[in-house]
Amino acid sequence: MLKDTDEFKDSTAKEFMPYGVGFITFWLDRQGPELLLSILRGEGDSSISHRPPAAVWFSFGDYRPYLKLIREHGAPGTRIIVQVQTVDEALAAQQDKVDVVVLQGTEAGGHGSQKAGPLINFIPEAKAALQNTLVSNPDAGLGMPALLAAGGISTAAQFKAAQALGADGVVIGTGFMPTFESPGPQRAKERLLQTSDGGLNTVKTRIFDELREFCWPEGFDGRVVRNVVTDREDEDHQRDHWRHEGEAAFKVLREDRTGTKQDWIKATAEQDYNILPLWSGTGVGLLKKQTSVAEFMDQLLDERA
Ligand SMILES: Cc1cc2nc3c(=O)[nH]c(=O)nc-3n(C[C@H](O)[C@H](O)[C@H](O)COP(=O)(O)O)c2cc1C
Repeated sequence: MLKDTDEFKDSTAKEFMPYGVGFITFWLDRQGPELLLSILRGEGDSSISHRPPAAVWFSFGDYRPYLKLIREHGAPGTRIIVQVQTVDEALAAQQDKVDVVVLQGTEAGGHGSQKAGPLINFIPEAKAALQNTLVSNPDAGLGMPALLAAGGISTAAQFKAAQALGADGVVIGTGFMPTFESPGPQRAKERLLQTSDGGLNTVKTRIFDELREFCWPEGFDGRVVRNVVTDREDEDHQRDHWRHEGEAAFKVLREDRTGTKQDWIKATAEQDYNILPLWSGTGVGLLKKQTSVAEFMDQLLDERA
């Protein structure tokens, strides 16, 4: 990789460098397009980013205002990747001629759409719809974007299943989190490895963004390992707090339970994942031992599985 990078440095043509940048799109909206423009111009803050990136990734929001910027200021080969959660969004991305569409299912760890469905349906339905567009509009100048599946994938068998359903590849987040190289705290990694039955013991919630007062737009939540906070949220649902009290229910949680500033600071200092969010997909139950990234990749690509 370093050798390649040096070769890129010596080149005088406007070529991309072998790195990618990802944006939470609504966050980029808040920061302004200058940030993206400076990266495309090679003025990013990393030592390898003095040329445009090989790929730009957008999730969660309207990426369309930025496409022109990338096409005008990126390198000719800079790929555009868009993560979507519905078939309609996949179709829109095809119309926008993006290179790669990431189909994010409800299984995915971290943030996603509250309305996302399971990959077992989403992949084949999105693929069929995209292919159908090409057949119905042969003269529209559209192509088939590469399709990547994201959500709950930890093993070679799941990887193959995603390909069998129509994906060209997969995106994995949670699977890398307990690896030795991952920068997260060891205590978090151990808790992930101890979590079994990932469909049951993870849950999608907005509660942590509310507690952190970290403003995600309506319609998005995040999948985490169940803990005291999500159990209390469940209890509140059962008691109909939410229906009757709406926003006030969050206030109750903030003030009376985990959300006081002191509690939050204590939980952070103690790395107490009974209170802190541990973002994780449903595939967490299949992660049984800590490995290196290379070992994780080897098992993922194991042809015998
Ligand atoms: C800890 C964590 C952080 C994530 N952060 C982002 C992010 O900043 N931007 C983004 O587009 N997706 C993010 N994701 C979601 C991934 O893009 C992807 O959809 C997900 O990891 C796939 O599911 P999996 O975690 O079950 O493998 C994150 C996921 C996790 C687990």
